[in-house]
Amino acid sequence: MPYNASMSTVYLNGQMLPLSEAQISVLDRGFLFGDGVYEVIPVYNRRPLRLAQHLSRLNDSLNGIHLDLSIDAAGWGEIIQKVIDANQGDEQSVYLQVTRGAAEAREHAFPNKVSPTVFVMSSPIADIPAADDIRGASAVTLEDVRWSLCNLKTVALLGNVLLKQEALTRGYDEAVLVRDDYATECSASNLFMVKEGRLLTPPKSRHLLPGITRDLVVEVAREHGFEVIERDIHEAELSEADELWFTSSTKAIVPIVALNDRAVGSGEPGALWREVLSYYRDYVEKLKRGEAS
Ligand SMILES: Cc1ncc(COP(=O)(O)O)c(C=O)c1O
Repeated sequence: MPYNASMSTVYLNGQMLPLSEAQISVLDRGFLFGDGVYEVIPVYNRRPLRLAQHLSRLNDSLNGIHLDLSIDAAGWGEIIQKVIDANQGDEQSVYLQVTRGAAEAREHAFPNKVSPTVFVMSSPIADIPAADDIRGASAVTLEDVRWSLCNLKTVALLGNVLLKQEALTRGYDEAVLVRDDYATECSASNLFMVKEGRLLTPPKSRHLLPGITRDLVVEVAREHGFEVIERDIHEAELSEADELWFTSSTKAIVPIVALNDRAVGSGEPGALWREVLSYYRDYVEKLKRGEAS
C-alpha cells in the first residue's frame, strides 16, 4: 500500500492518534513565536541511530531556551519506540518537537503554568544509498544571515528556509553558508572539506548546529585512520577544495560536485567521500543487527 502521511500514527501530549486527528491550539507558542525545539532521528531496521546523542542535544536545546520538561531519556525512548512500532517501514525518520505550549494571551514573556506541547511523528525514509546510486549535489555560497544561537535546534527556521529556497530558486541543491568570511554549515546540513587527504570541518560554535551525523562521520573517519581537523574554513579555501560534502541525519553524506558553478576537484564525487560513506554504511549495518546504537 502506498504511504499516506495522514494515516500515520503520531504522539501528541500523551496520546497516540492518527496524524489527521492531531490538533493544537492556534495560541501555541511554537506557532506564534517559533518558541520550541525539535529533533530528527533516523531509524534503520526499526532501531534509532544515535538515540542517546539526539536526546542529549535535545536536552541542550531545551536548556538553551529555558524550557523545563519532565520527560527523561527513558521516557523519550519509550515514546519514540511506540511511534516507530505504530508506523510503516523499517526505515523511518522520527520528528519530535517540544514547544512552550499555549498561553491564554499572546505575550512575548514566558507564560506561567503552561504545559509544553510534545509532538512526535514519523515518516518512511529510504535506506542509505550505495555510492554508485548517489548523484553529486550543486551548491552556492550565501551569506549566513541567521541569528547567533544556531547551536540550538529550534523550530524558528525561517533563516534556514529562506536560504534553502534561494539556493533552489537559483538552480542549486544546497547553500553553503558564510559568516564573516568563514564557512559555517549548510542550510540544513553540516559541511566537510577534503584538502590533501585531510578531512576538515568547522569547529562547533554558536554559529552551527552540532550535527549528530557530523560527529559520527568524524568518529568513523578517525577510526579508519583519517586525519580529521576541526578548524575554521575561510571562504577562499572552498574554491581550492579537493572535495566538499554535506551531512545530515536524513541525507547521510552527500558530495558537492559543483560550487558556484565551478567543479569541486574533478567535478565527480571524490574517492575519500566514497570510502567514508562505506564506513558510515557499515556502521548503519551494525545498528541494524543490534550491534551498534
Ligand atoms: C542547519 C543544520 N545543520 C546541520 C544539520 C545536520 O544535523 P544532523 O546530522 O544531526 O541531522 C541539520 C539537520 O537538520 C540542520 O538543519
